Amino acid sequence: MADPQRARFPEGGRDWPDLQHEMRERAAGDADWRGGRTAIFFFLAEQEAYDVGKRAYMEFFSENALGAARAYPGIGQMERDVLDYGMDLLSAPAGARGVFTTGGTESILLAVKAARERHRARRGVGPGRPLNIVMPVTGHPAFDKAAILMDVEVRRAPLRADRRVDVEAMRGLIDADTMLLVGSAPCFPHGVIDPISEIDALAAAADVWLHVDACVGGWIAPFFERVGRGTPVFDFRNTAVRSISADLHKFGFAPKPASTVFFRDGEDLDRSTFRLGYWPSGLYTTATMSGSRPGAAVAAAWAVLNHLGTAGYERAARNLAAVVDRYVEGLEAIPGIELWARPDVTIVNFGSRDFDIYAVAEQMKARRWIPGLTSEPKGMHTMLSMQHEPARETYLNDLRACVEAVRASEATSNLTATY
Ligand SMILES: Cc1ncc(COP(=O)(O)O)c(C=O)c1O
Repeated sequence: MADPQRARFPEGGRDWPDLQHEMRERAAGDADWRGGRTAIFFFLAEQEAYDVGKRAYMEFFSENALGAARAYPGIGQMERDVLDYGMDLLSAPAGARGVFTTGGTESILLAVKAARERHRARRGVGPGRPLNIVMPVTGHPAFDKAAILMDVEVRRAPLRADRRVDVEAMRGLIDADTMLLVGSAPCFPHGVIDPISEIDALAAAADVWLHVDACVGGWIAPFFERVGRGTPVFDFRNTAVRSISADLHKFGFAPKPASTVFFRDGEDLDRSTFRLGYWPSGLYTTATMSGSRPGAAVAAAWAVLNHLGTAGYERAARNLAAVVDRYVEGLEAIPGIELWARPDVTIVNFGSRDFDIYAVAEQMKARRWIPGLTSEPKGMHTMLSMQHEPARETYLNDLRACVEAVRASEATSNLTATY
């Protein structure tokens, strides 16, 4: 018997105005991301760059980037340009190569696969040998996803007081079966860049692959450095860094799904590439984990990068830095609120030693904000971008009011941090 709760296959025949009306009705309760009410999920530099991305996306709405080589050389050229731009930005040496992917998770999967293949080839070990990844406790769960798929163990190192990974603790976790070290630029929970130059020295001494997960910072942190924010160097200028993941659909300000992964040594891209020679339809090769993927995302990223260019990203970095500073100032002016780390780029994370910050988060939710949470220590978390600037005063006023209410009532919350 069919499940009575299950929606029945539609009869069809509905026209666009009718569909649009219903879709808008359904979305009426969704978060107001345009109004800066979501702590994560959407990233804005400038309205014009957003519009350019959307137009370019619609222009190539139907093209499949899987067919770039055979059918859509224009998409292929734009893809190569975007990868070249990324390698230029991240100081990749000659011989480096990259892949345009559908997101940070896919970029990370490709780097882990390449690292595993290289480790196996160099150490002469086969699939039966259990290998491991050594990374900060704050590293993104995409590495655990990769580890599950590739049957690899993840070893997580604790943090120093400044919430960057303790590199000595990483050293203690390395053994002959360590195939990969990871540092984040910045890490998602606390927004700080791990001590990449120290991990770089460790990777060189241990002769292990180092991946920098710059999914958040890859396309913007270099501009923070250029505009004089003193942002730590995390890219290929660290000579043991073999790969970097960098999302276009976060602080590259391109529409989703769009990310990149770069390999210092082009041979490593061959290690991440999938090839099947014995299929009835012939040789099947993809540099990505996905097969079909939107040509629109490639075209849109190309257009946004060419629209903003160096001047635009430097402007974005200056504007974002000012927003971060103003939020930090506003947060620190609320009695009892404490920043859990000094933001290196655009992520702020704060909590309190005096009251339950989750109770504050619950009250903020009731005021139609979608807060991010961190669990260790308990905190609230936001990836700031430009839509958060017009919302700043309202946000800080609401936060202050919620903090006062929680302090007065000594309310506690049994929320659990859920991504
Ligand atoms: C540091 C970091 N790495 C990787 C990812 C995964 O990116 P995606 O959600 O695009 O797969 C994220 C997502 O927030 C992230 O913050």
